[in-house]
Amino acid sequence: MRILVTGGAGFIGSNFLNRFVPRYPEHEFLNVDALTYAANLGNLASLEGASNYAFSRTDLREKDAVVAVVDTFRPNAVVHLAAESHVDRSIRNADAFVATNVLGTFHLLEACRDLQERQSVVFHHVSTDEVYGSLGATGRFSETSRYDPSSPYSASKAASDHFVRAYHRTYGLPVKITNCSNNFGPYQFPEKLIPLVIHHALTGRPLPVYGQGLNVRDWLFVEDHCDALWTVLEHGRVGETYNVGGNGELRNIDLVRILCSIIAHECQLDREELLGRIELVPDRPGHDIRYAIDAAKLRTDCGWEPSHSLEDGLVKTVRWYRDNRAWLESVASGEYKRWLEEHYGGGGSA
Ligand code: NAD
Ligand code: DAU
Repeated sequence: MRILVTGGAGFIGSNFLNRFVPRYPEHEFLNVDALTYAANLGNLASLEGASNYAFSRTDLREKDAVVAVVDTFRPNAVVHLAAESHVDRSIRNADAFVATNVLGTFHLLEACRDLQERQSVVFHHVSTDEVYGSLGATGRFSETSRYDPSSPYSASKAASDHFVRAYHRTYGLPVKITNCSNNFGPYQFPEKLIPLVIHHALTGRPLPVYGQGLNVRDWLFVEDHCDALWTVLEHGRVGETYNVGGNGELRNIDLVRILCSIIAHECQLDREELLGRIELVPDRPGHDIRYAIDAAKLRTDCGWEPSHSLEDGLVKTVRWYRDNRAWLESVASGEYKRWLEEHYGGGGSA
């Protein structure tokens, strides 16, 4: 099978490729990525020389380039991860979110629709639970929850979900959609809560928590998300949507306190001193109160279950950042962009 993965140099994409390229030598993988600020080809260093892996620097905002790469590689499956992914950035400026998440997805759908006339291609769209908006104190999102996005980011992902479904209904393109909760783990850009807290804890900075820290997120270790994506690729039904989540609900303030305890233990730091660095800062506008995923459909239809508890995943993550300080520092300082410039003539947008 030829699998085209978009956004493979980002957080989830690089975990996906590092996991499945060596495991499936019988499949060919093409990583299509524009190399924006969120990308880091260093994440994929272990794949250098793999005969079943290739990289194409292609920007999904450029329709002709997208059509060309799809035409040349002729994938049997597309795993579409590329996106602008950070809510706070979308609040500051949504341009790149509309251009990549909406228009970029449309370009990829068009390229696949064209290819579909010659051969079958399954389009797997990797989306987010944020399309459903906010929950109150009870209940969980199911695949039939109403779309009600709050941020420009989630609105752009909702729009792309709608386009993907429309291409299935109108043109018969074989599509699958997964809507996943908050991921964490190795290679996550330290603008997101968990790597940001670890980075700040290790470098003596304050640990910022928005509002009163009462917002709830449903956390999933990235390897479990990657396994869910692979399971859906293999066993998911065409035209279906699957919610992905790990029963990892926590209030942000509780998560940050737990992280302080784990970091103190794993990195020989003073727990009380870390806790004392937690700072309540002004809230994110439109901040969704609570997310929680009901993943029963994925369990029943495809047999997927997360294999990490939240605690196990957090310990693994803290150890990874502790043992990969050079990665963290090069990303935080912008050094990784210089490498990109030397090899690829400059980092991308946003
Ligand atoms: P990320 O920001 O770490 O990586 C995104 C990747 O997409 C980067 O490598 C970037 O260079 C690439 N990209 C961005 N714009 C592009 C363009 N115009 N053309 C080609 N490539 C482009 O994101 P992530 O956290 O790995 O998320 C991956 C996907 O999973 C996104 O679609 C996101 O919406 C979805 N998702 C993420 C989470 C999470 O918690 N991180 C949860 C659910 C769903
Ligand atoms: O739910 C899935 C989504 O999870 C994905 O679709 C997004 O791509 C991904 O970025 C993530 O979105 P969030 O906005 O939930 O993630 P973030 O890490 O930015 O924030 C997690 C929670 O922590 C959220 O309630 C805001 C809060 N927060 C965040 C930061 C960066 C803080 O309290 N302090 C911070 O400094």
